[in-house]
Amino acid sequence: MKKGYLAAAFAVCIILLSSCGSNPGQTETSNVPAAPSKPTGDVIYKRSCVSCHQSNGEGLPNVYPPLAKSDFITDKEKTIGQVIKGYTGEMVVNGKKYNSTMPAQQLNDDEVAAVLTYVYSNFGNGGTSVTAGEVTAARAKLQ
Ligand code: HEC
Repeated sequence: MKKGYLAAAFAVCIILLSSCGSNPGQTETSNVPAAPSKPTGDVIYKRSCVSCHQSNGEGLPNVYPPLAKSDFITDKEKTIGQVIKGYTGEMVVNGKKYNSTMPAQQLNDDEVAAVLTYVYSNFGNGGTSVTAGEVTAARAKLQ
């Protein structure tokens, strides 16, 4: 009787062990999802800026300044700083006074570069590009 139990237990062990073995038809890596691609400037703009600066970049009169043809963004370094650190207080954009708050944007250097390149290439702006390296350099100066 005891022997029978042992044999059965042994058989169960063998079955369990063999069922854990790898299935030759399936490789381990096939279940790993592809690395997510980096969000593009327009995606970041829609996510992080559009609620205030609007989809046409015109902002809202007296509340949110325009990014469209803004004279502020002609200073690239200052513009990068504006996105990274935000700003509270008075500022003049295209001759109009604003006195509000823009919260600091939690974006990495690649994302700041992408979203600002988007801003510079749209809304009737000049079409300058911003590189992650420029953002890294500007960020270092801010700290
Ligand atoms: C919660 C609203 C809000 C969000 C979100 C926001 N901003 Fe602003 N932004 C403002 C306000 C308000 C000012 C003016 C600040 C002041 O009056 O002190 C401003 C100013 C600016 C300026 C300088 C003035 C100008 O219009 O050229 C730039 C550049 C700018 N924002 C870019 C961005 C970008 C790029 C994003 C997204 C990554 C963004 N902002 C997200 C509210 C916002």
